[in-house]
Amino acid sequence: NPVPPFDLVIFGAGGDLALRKLFPALAQRNQEGVLPEESRVLAIVRKAEDVEGLPNQIATRLKEEGLAPEQIAAFLRRLTMVLLDALKPETYASLKKALGKSERVRSFYLSTPPDLFIPICENLAKADILTPTSRVILEKPLGRDLASAREINDAVGRILPESRTYRIDHYLGKETVQNLLVLRFANTLFERSWSSRDIDNVQITVAETVGLESRAGYYDKSGHMRDMVQNHLMQLLCLFAIEPPNMLEAGAVRDEKIKVLKALRPIVGPDVQRYTVRGQYGPGQIDGQRVRGYTDELGRASNTETFVAVRCEVDNWRWAGVPIYLRTGKRMAQRYSEIAVTFKPVPHSIFGGTSACDRLDANRLVIRLQPNDGLQLQLMMKVPGSGRLKIVPRQLDLRYETAFNERTPDAYERLLTDVIRGDQTLFMHRDEVEQAWAWVDPIISGWQEYAPHPQRYAAGTWGPSHAVGLIEREGRSWADPDFTE
Ligand code: BG6
Repeated sequence: NPVPPFDLVIFGAGGDLALRKLFPALAQRNQEGVLPEESRVLAIVRKAEDVEGLPNQIATRLKEEGLAPEQIAAFLRRLTMVLLDALKPETYASLKKALGKSERVRSFYLSTPPDLFIPICENLAKADILTPTSRVILEKPLGRDLASAREINDAVGRILPESRTYRIDHYLGKETVQNLLVLRFANTLFERSWSSRDIDNVQITVAETVGLESRAGYYDKSGHMRDMVQNHLMQLLCLFAIEPPNMLEAGAVRDEKIKVLKALRPIVGPDVQRYTVRGQYGPGQIDGQRVRGYTDELGRASNTETFVAVRCEVDNWRWAGVPIYLRTGKRMAQRYSEIAVTFKPVPHSIFGGTSACDRLDANRLVIRLQPNDGLQLQLMMKVPGSGRLKIVPRQLDLRYETAFNERTPDAYERLLTDVIRGDQTLFMHRDEVEQAWAWVDPIISGWQEYAPHPQRYAAGTWGPSHAVGLIEREGRSWADPDFTE
């Protein structure tokens, strides 16, 4: 579908996300000629000096992204600055005036803390700015627990219907994440073995090398469970585990994801000690550079976790008995995200006693999300030669970069145009968000009682030793990230 003419209003336009991701994504789309001529981006700012200052900051940012001066100028021509205080209804007249009476699709991107979602929606309604096709885009975090997420969903739902509410999880816009559905449902090969019959365990890792960056205020109040697991890792888990939807359509895909979330076995009370690990980084080294510990960066003591590992199970027909290990943290040894699927070993080795190899390694499929996105499949192979039989593991390696000679768009490029086109497939339904909180909340409250102090790990490592224990006590080990290098 072509993108229809639109007005995209960005609240929080001077914030980190808008500068780092939203404006570059829109400018990129503009450069590709995807945005209709008459479309506009309206940037909401609260301080008068930003009306002049923000366009310069955007231009600097776009230059860093490698856009040519004429492309930057072309994007800035689409930009309208609007001075408004989100909490003051009387200031919305400026936005109403800027929007005028146009027929263009109106989208309101709330790139703000979640406590502003309700007042902004209410003020937009009061000012009579919402048209029958207007949509609202809510950036994560969607609340900080089930109760606050429900409150937001209820209040926003009184103003805009679910069909025009877009809850963003940018992981769903990543190419490899979308390709997970294609891999599973456009190939017979894997889907037939995608169950407890053939799969021994699944590991989902999202490791980052960055620390607090400039987000101390938000992050220290949230912690890693709320920042990464409740949304990104649970969405990856859902897409990995869903049943085939009958078509690639928002309702059908979301219904299947909700079923997975409902089937996740709850981890409550003392079980948090057995099935979860929470960690916090101390000082260490990353890429040969010394880095400070979390509390040194923060400048005060804190029990906020920067690392989480969880062993979970999806209690349904397909997945019964297959452990799914989640692992994610800041300041880890390498930045990479992947889903590693380890298949069961062959039922009987005909090579036993032939000294062809010490053991037959299980097949392993690694879906690498970033960097070096692609797929790797580990197979056992015979070493060529006419001497005695020798069997070793080797990888089939499919890199996107080499398989397709195309630029990989940033997740936000895809997601922003999907909103304007009215396609909700890659956005979260309120039931998904609430169900994910319903699973996460008892873990967070269990920690308060059973794991109030996170385990320490040195920056630049793979997390606390307990995370290794979590998987090793079951006779397994974390997949080696260098496997895909
Ligand atoms: C964000 C989190 O949602 O995702 C950040 O708030 C995190 O803490 C980021 O760094 C990771 O995104 P990506 O696309 O760099 O993997």
